Amino acid sequence: MSSTIESVLVENRVFPPFPDLVKNANISGMEAYQALCREAEQSPDAFWGRLARENLVWDKPFSKVLDESQAPSYRWFGDGELNVSANCLDRHLNTPTADKAAIIFETDDGKVSQVTYRQLHARVCEFANGIKALGYQAGERAIIYMPMSIEAVVAMQACARLGIIHSVVFGGFSSRSLQERIVDVGATLVITADEQVRGGKSIPLKPAVDDALAAGGCEAVKHVIVYKRTGGKIGWHEGRDLWMHDVAANQPSVCAAVPLNAEHPLFILYTSGSTGKPKGVQHACGGFLLWALLTVKWTFDAKDADVFWCTADVGWVTGHTYIAYGPLAAGLTQVMFEGVPTYPNVGRFWEMIQRHKVTVFYTAPTAIRSLTKAADAEPAYHPREYDLDSLRIIGSVGEPINPEAWMWYYTEVGRERCPVLDTWWQTETGAHMITPLPGVTPLKPGSCTLPLPGIAAAIVDEAGGDVEAGQGGFLVIKRPWPGMIRAIWGDPERFKKSYFPPELKGYYLAGDGAQRDRDGYFWIMGRVDDVLNVSGHRLGTMEVESALVAHPMVAEAAVVGRPDDTTGEAVVAFVVLNRSLPEGEEAAAIAKQLRDWVAKEIGPIAKPKDIRFGENLPKTRSGKIMRRLLRIVAKGEKVTQDVSTLENPAILDQLSQSV
Ligand code: WTA
Repeated sequence: MSSTIESVLVENRVFPPFPDLVKNANISGMEAYQALCREAEQSPDAFWGRLARENLVWDKPFSKVLDESQAPSYRWFGDGELNVSANCLDRHLNTPTADKAAIIFETDDGKVSQVTYRQLHARVCEFANGIKALGYQAGERAIIYMPMSIEAVVAMQACARLGIIHSVVFGGFSSRSLQERIVDVGATLVITADEQVRGGKSIPLKPAVDDALAAGGCEAVKHVIVYKRTGGKIGWHEGRDLWMHDVAANQPSVCAAVPLNAEHPLFILYTSGSTGKPKGVQHACGGFLLWALLTVKWTFDAKDADVFWCTADVGWVTGHTYIAYGPLAAGLTQVMFEGVPTYPNVGRFWEMIQRHKVTVFYTAPTAIRSLTKAADAEPAYHPREYDLDSLRIIGSVGEPINPEAWMWYYTEVGRERCPVLDTWWQTETGAHMITPLPGVTPLKPGSCTLPLPGIAAAIVDEAGGDVEAGQGGFLVIKRPWPGMIRAIWGDPERFKKSYFPPELKGYYLAGDGAQRDRDGYFWIMGRVDDVLNVSGHRLGTMEVESALVAHPMVAEAAVVGRPDDTTGEAVVAFVVLNRSLPEGEEAAAIAKQLRDWVAKEIGPIAKPKDIRFGENLPKTRSGKIMRRLLRIVAKGEKVTQDVSTLENPAILDQLSQSV
């Protein structure tokens, strides 16, 4: 990350907002933005209360906006009732939006289908009636392990309609990770697909569910509902397994949405923290939906004529907020894509923007960086070869976007007429927190710029004291906001310890290091804990370490991140085997075995890029692994610090050798 930090600190290009965007924007001009910020500061309750009443449809109005009596377990709109699915679908039925495309879906091999809001509503209702008929009800937990598909949105929305709390597991996670989540969340229902199709290949999903359920601890699961994507051969457990189309068949296309308390959990999404065990981040119906919808209106400046495309997977928070919920609540037409940006060629994204006349495009810096390289290598698929005139806003999420990638995105994709919105947020924040607004914010490449109205973002030191402009520190949010995490599922202590440490005066601790410049702009410098960000995916170093030491051949392992041109960070693993030090081909073979092992234990995204073997790890005399030194060694740099406190200084040379 250090190269990013150095380059952002010398970044002084500023791009003012485009006048035509300012004129028509939902938040039009700096003064309008500042007025909203003032309104929020002067009376947060009145501000959020007004927005919740204006933007959501309530079955029972709330009388209290924020209840802080159990802080940091904040309750928002806590005596109000609403249904998220009704707020995404039913609210449009008596409006012209009903017959507009809700989702334009494109398969890996380019087949396009679409559903209108009315049709999506009917499909969600039929499926919800089907699961209701099986006996499922509000408060139960369902695991969703599905490919990108309209069916995945149907599954999420059907759960929301009934108050069944969903936990989506990214299709790239292994059966082991899936099983851990099924157990932790206490799921009674699993919704999956036979296979997923990506980059021309079919990848089985249902067998991973079978393995997970066979591994034990999942006895509460009564049914596995399977969406037939490919018709590929899969195992079948009579009585337990059901086809999704059979569950929905012959069900009425109307299903009353269950009015739920605003604080009823909408979903639990697992994400990595600084210990080995992923945390189940719990979000609440009312606050989450309000924040998802508001950010679609504010950041993406949602307009009726927009064609919105967020390229994230529904397995990550971005796919929850900006595919399954936010755009639907806003009544937008959105594009959803099953495949990968490089298939059948590296022009796939640009071709799809051209084909569907996408107006707002939202992707990850990793995708931009790899497509930059790909476009250089294969000029026929360079974005300039496509008609991208429909675009008006382009966004980025998930990791720091370095100024070089920002400039390429701005120039080659946005053609110097679309703002690049570098949106900073997290699974825990529910939706955008610090981001430019298209009609407001002068842009600086590499900065996520300014907090949204109502978001009290600040940079503080270890004691929670404000730091001066230009000084690094911890990024915190000083006041609660509706979209915030409510709990870590089943672990209230960890919730407080991770996010509201006592020394920080009750501020929400994001886990990122950052600094503000003299204009008040935020510059994110990366995680300050043991969390890595590989291709925009959060990974705990301890998670990968636990997976490695679970291998019979491994005695000890330490994992660190190393800056990577394409993926942002790459996983480097230092491994001590419980046998002699391997060399040459044997070392390569063992490294491959360990990589495959990690893919099986966690998922392919966690595979170490680089594995180094040593007879030992650098430790202090008290036995602590010196990760700081390992990070230097991982970068291929010489250790120049004093290593006299090391038990075994010679080990550093051994660990500098890549396999
Ligand atoms: C990082 C993804 C820099 C950050 C929405 C954060 C970013 C973590 C940005 C959350 C950004 C996200 N600039 N870093 N614009 N956006 N991050 O939970 O380290 O998967 O803490 O949520 O990604 O990752 P998560």
